[in-house]
Parts: sequence; C-alpha cells; structure tokens
Amino acid sequence: MTPYPCAHPVLLAPMAGYTDIAFRALCTRFGCDLTCTEMVSAKGLLYGSVRTAEYLHLGADEPYIAVQLFGHEPEVLAAAVRRVCRALGNRLCCIDLNMGCPAPKIVSNGDGSALLKDPELAGKLVSAAVQSSSVPITVKMRMGWDADANVAIPFAYIMEENGAAALTVHPRTRAQQYSGTADWSVIRAVKQAVSIPVIGNGDVTDGASAKAMLEQTGCDGIMVARGALGNPWIFAEIKAALENRPYSPPTDRERFLIAIEHAERIVAEKGEHGLVELRKHIPYYIRGTRNAKELRQKVNAVQTVAQLRDLLLDRESAKTYNEMIPNG
Ligand SMILES: Cc1cc2nc3c(=O)[nH]c(=O)nc-3n(C[C@H](O)[C@H](O)[C@H](O)COP(=O)(O)O)c2cc1C
Repeated sequence: MTPYPCAHPVLLAPMAGYTDIAFRALCTRFGCDLTCTEMVSAKGLLYGSVRTAEYLHLGADEPYIAVQLFGHEPEVLAAAVRRVCRALGNRLCCIDLNMGCPAPKIVSNGDGSALLKDPELAGKLVSAAVQSSSVPITVKMRMGWDADANVAIPFAYIMEENGAAALTVHPRTRAQQYSGTADWSVIRAVKQAVSIPVIGNGDVTDGASAKAMLEQTGCDGIMVARGALGNPWIFAEIKAALENRPYSPPTDRERFLIAIEHAERIVAEKGEHGLVELRKHIPYYIRGTRNAKELRQKVNAVQTVAQLRDLLLDRESAKTYNEMIPNG
C-alpha cells in the first residue's frame, strides 16, 4: 500500500501553526500532491483536548490528507492511530510519526527528535502504529541528535524493519535546529540503504533546488516547508521545473490577491476573528515589497477581509502610480 497519491510526490511539510485548512487548500490549488496536518499530540487526542481534535477537521475541498502524530508511548500512539483512522476514513492517505521536532518542550517529554536517541523505542512506536492502522505509517526524521551522532542509516533500517511504508529525511541534527544547510548526501545515503520510498526535505526553495535535490539524492519525492510560506505557488514552480516547462512567478498583485483569498478561507472556517491567524502569514506574502514593515503593521490592525482588500489592492494601485512618476 503506497502512502502517497502518486509515484514522485511533491508534498507540503507539516508546520505547527501554519499548515491549517486555509493554507493547505491554497497549496493543493497550486499543485501540491499531498498536504499534512501539523504535528498532533497522540495523548491530547485521546484525553479529550478539543483543540487537539480540531486538527483533524478537513476543509470541504480537501480530498485527502496525511496526519502527523507525536508521542512516545506505544499504547497511547496505537489508540490515537485508531482514532485518526476512524475519524477520517478514506480521506486519510497515511499517518506520519514525528521523529524530528527539536523544540525543547517536545524533546523534554521524550517526543520528536528525542526518539533518535532511543531507536528501540522508536521501532516499537512504528510497530504499534502499523498494527493499529488502516493506512500506511510513515516516519519523518532528522539525521541525529547532534554532530557526533549521525544515526540516519541505522535509524532508517529500524523504521523499515518495523513496518514504516516510507521515510521523510530532514538531514539536520536536532542540535542544528534550522541553522546551517541540510546535508543532502544523507538523504542519498538513506535512499541507497532502504527499499521503502524516501522523501527528501530541507532547503528546497524553488524549482531549481527541487530538481537539484532529486538529481543529487535519487529521492522518491520532495517535501517543502518554509519555501511554501507566503508562496503556495512554489508547487506550480516545482512541477514546471520537473517537467521542463516554463514558469512565470506571480506579480505583486497576484500575491496580494492570494493573500486575500487566504484571508477569505480563514474567515470561512473560523469567522472574522480568525483573521488574527493571518498575521503570521502576511510577512511572507509581502516580503520583498516596498514598505513591507509599514504594511505589516497596517495589516495587523485590519478587522475584516474588506479592509484587507482595500489595504492591499489600493497599495498596489499606489505603487503602479508611483512607478509611472518615479520622482514625482
Ligand atoms: C514554523 C515551523 C513549524 C514546523 N512544524 C513541524 C511539525 O509540526 N512537524 C514536523 O515534522 N516538522 C515541523 N517543522 C519542520 C519542517 O516540516 C521541515 O522539516 C523543516 O522546516 C525543513 O524543511 P524546509 O527547509 O523546507 O523548511 C516545522 C518547521 C517550521 C519552520
């Protein structure tokens, strides 16, 4: 059973606080093959946290999804897996297990990348999840805890032996967090070592880097995180690059129109107060535009989509006008 809807998928990575229904829908619209929830606590799901259960809501136009779980107790994880399978039925493609999150509050509980230090427990978690699941179980991992412990290959073997259907490799250590560059040679080494699909992740920011990752690592698919923020077009760009088709980046006006659509989608899900959630996305949509700082402050004050539309589109008209009269 394959975890993905196609052989060489381009995937949206789980991103806590960002990969909500509205953002996932935009990425799908621009060609992303499969989106994922942010990491969801297995324990939170079981012990009735309403907020946690909300992570399992899908948008009306989301055909299917991957759900990412984190946890470190096999029985709790198994029960959470059963709950996710029941809740999402045939709209669920796969369940991914988080073995990469470096955040202190996660690793201090033995979750996320802490599991890289306990491969035996990590194997038990995968096995328990596989036995409880009606869909494939995948694992998203970093390459090790710190520079002295690149465990990528032995860890990948253990994941495969215990029934993981695919691996996503983000080749940084926990100690690196997000600094330095992702070491793609580790993705290549894991791909050569295991026989399940390997998805490459880390530092894909455009079509050229996606193509380079595929060529340099031989990975089966690509997962994009930060490169998609404020830039859901990246999926169209990557698809075009992989198929040797031309790609035209969006104009500023198109960027603003999508930011407005993003706002409309949030409001459709959560009501106008949901606009607060757009604040973290806006800096990404407007980066590189003139007076981005000032604009961000104004966007933070808007109360309605109509105000946002006026702000962004008026600004665009003003900009065009200023360009017509450069010193005017
Ligand atoms: C804001 C943010 C939130 C993230 N949340 C998660 C998460 O919930 N689960 C996970 O496995 N990785 C998470 N990650 C890591 C990304 O999925 C990805 O592995 C990492 O950013 C490297 O990919 P990139 O270079 O394309 O950004 C997060 C990253 C960022 C920047």
